[in-house]
Amino acid sequence: MRASSFILAVFAAVATAQDLATVLSGREDLTTLVQLLQEVGVVPTTEFISKQKDVTLFAPSDAAFAEIVQSGGIFSIQQASTDAGLIEQILRYHLYKGVIMSSDIMEIPQYPSSYLDYSAIVLDGEVSGSNVTGGEVAGVSLDTEGNAIVTTGLKVPSTVVVADIPFDNGVIHVIDKLLLFPLSISETLITGNFTALAGAATQTDLVTPLEELSDVTIFCPNNDAFQRIAGGTDGITKEALAEILQYHVVQGTVGYSTVLSNTTLPTLAGKGLEITITDDGAVFVNNARVINADVLIANGVLHVINEVLSPQEEGYSPASQTVSVSPAPVVPFTSGITPETSVYSELTQTTSFVAAGLVTAAPNATMATVSSGSATPSSPLAASSGVVPATGAGMRNELPAVVAALVGALAFAVNM
Ligand SMILES: *[C@@H]1O[C@H](CO)[C@@H](O)[C@H](O)[C@H]1NC(C)=O
Ligand SMILES: *[C@@H]1O[C@H](CO)[C@@H](O)[C@H](O)[C@H]1NC(C)=O
Ligand SMILES: *[C@@H]1O[C@H](CO)[C@@H](O)[C@H](O)[C@H]1NC(C)=O
Ligand SMILES: *[C@@H]1O[C@H](CO)[C@@H](O)[C@H](O)[C@H]1NC(C)=O
Repeated sequence: MRASSFILAVFAAVATAQDLATVLSGREDLTTLVQLLQEVGVVPTTEFISKQKDVTLFAPSDAAFAEIVQSGGIFSIQQASTDAGLIEQILRYHLYKGVIMSSDIMEIPQYPSSYLDYSAIVLDGEVSGSNVTGGEVAGVSLDTEGNAIVTTGLKVPSTVVVADIPFDNGVIHVIDKLLLFPLSISETLITGNFTALAGAATQTDLVTPLEELSDVTIFCPNNDAFQRIAGGTDGITKEALAEILQYHVVQGTVGYSTVLSNTTLPTLAGKGLEITITDDGAVFVNNARVINADVLIANGVLHVINEVLSPQEEGYSPASQTVSVSPAPVVPFTSGITPETSVYSELTQTTSFVAAGLVTAAPNATMATVSSGSATPSSPLAASSGVVPATGAGMRNELPAVVAALVGALAFAVNM
C-alpha cells in the first residue's frame, strides 16, 4: 500500500462514525460508563441512545466516577443500587438534543435540552420534579481559560477533557465530572445560603406550589437584601409577604441570561417586572441588579439579585436602591431554617452577565468576574450591593453534600 492511500484509509476509518457500544468500548478512559451501561442493566438507555438522531453525549471519564467514590457519597445507597430508573435519568441528563461540536462552544453559554424530561427524581427520599419544557438543560460554554465546560445544577462545572469523538448518532465529549441535575428550588436556596427567601417561602406555604410549576424564572434576593428591608417587614401579613414573593416569580418563561432583553415580564403577583440591560451589560430587574445569573433549577432558572423587589415600586430606577447604613442585626424570615455550615462559592460569588447582543461588541466582558458594583461605579449600588466576597470564612469550593451524595449513589451502584 502506498503511503498516501494508507493515510487515506486510516483517515476514513477515523472519520467514519461507529455505533455507541463500539466507540465506548474502544476507549480506555470510559470503562466505568461502559460497565454502567452493560452491567447495571440499563439496556433501554443504550437502545434509546441508538435510536436518537443528532445527539451530544457528555461521557463522564473513569476519573469522574473515581472522584465520586472517593468523596464518599452516602445518600440512598440501597435505593440507588436497586433503582435503574434513577440511573437511567442520570444518563439521560448526559445526553443532549443536537450535535454540539467543540467549535460551536463559545463564551456565551448555550442551553441545550437534555433527554431528561418531566421526571420526578427521588433524591434522598424526596421527590424533586424536573419540569422544563423540552427537557432539563445544561449550560455549555467556554471558561476564562478557553476550556469547554458544562454547567449544571448549583453551577457545578464539568470540563470537557476529550472533544469531538464521532459516533453514529452524533458526537461524544469526555467530561471530568458527572453532571448534576438541576435541584429543586428549596435545595438550591439552602445550598446557596439564601435562607431569607427560603424562610419567607416556607412561612407563606409557597415552597411546594413554586416547585410544582413548570418553566419558571426566579429572582432571588440575597440575605443582605432582606436584611436591609427588615425594619419594614415587622408584622407583615402572610398575604402581603406572599404577594412580595410572587412578584419575584415569572412563569412560562425560562429567562436564561442569554435570552433576556429590555422587556417586561409578567409575574405570579399579576404585576410586571421591568428587565433592563444597561449598555455596559449589567442586568437590572426593576431597581435590583442581577449579581449571579443562571443558576439552573429543576423547573427553570434562578438569578440572584441584590434588592428585594416591591410590587409597589415597579420600573427601572437604580438610584432608588435601598441604602441602609445599619442593616438589621438579624436576617428576617430565617427562624426555623437551618443554614448550611458552609456555602458553595459558585452560588455566592458575584458574576457579570452580558446579554448576547452585547457580547459580540465586547467579547472580553463576557466571562469576567466583576467585583462589587464595578459595572456601575457611580451608583449607590456600589456601597450597598451586598456582594459576598469570593473568599472568606465558610466558603468552600468542593461539591456540596447533596451533590456528592447524589453522584455517590450512582458510583456505588456501578461498583455493585
Ligand atoms: C410540572 O408542571 C405542571 C404544570 O405547572 C404541574 O402540574 C406538575 O405537577 C409539575 N410536575 C412536577 C414533577 O413538578
Ligand atoms: C435598554 O434600556 C437601557 C436603559 O434605558 C438602555 O440604556 C439600553 O440602551 C437599552 N438597550 C437596548 C438594546 O435598547
Ligand atoms: C449564611 O447567611 C447568614 C446570614 O446572611 C450569615 O450570617 C452566614 O455567615 C452565612 N453562612 C455562610 C456559611 O456563609
Ligand atoms: C480580549 O483579551 C485579550 C487577552 O486579554 C486581548 O488580547 C484582546 O485584545 C481583548 N479583546 C478586546 C476586544 O478587548
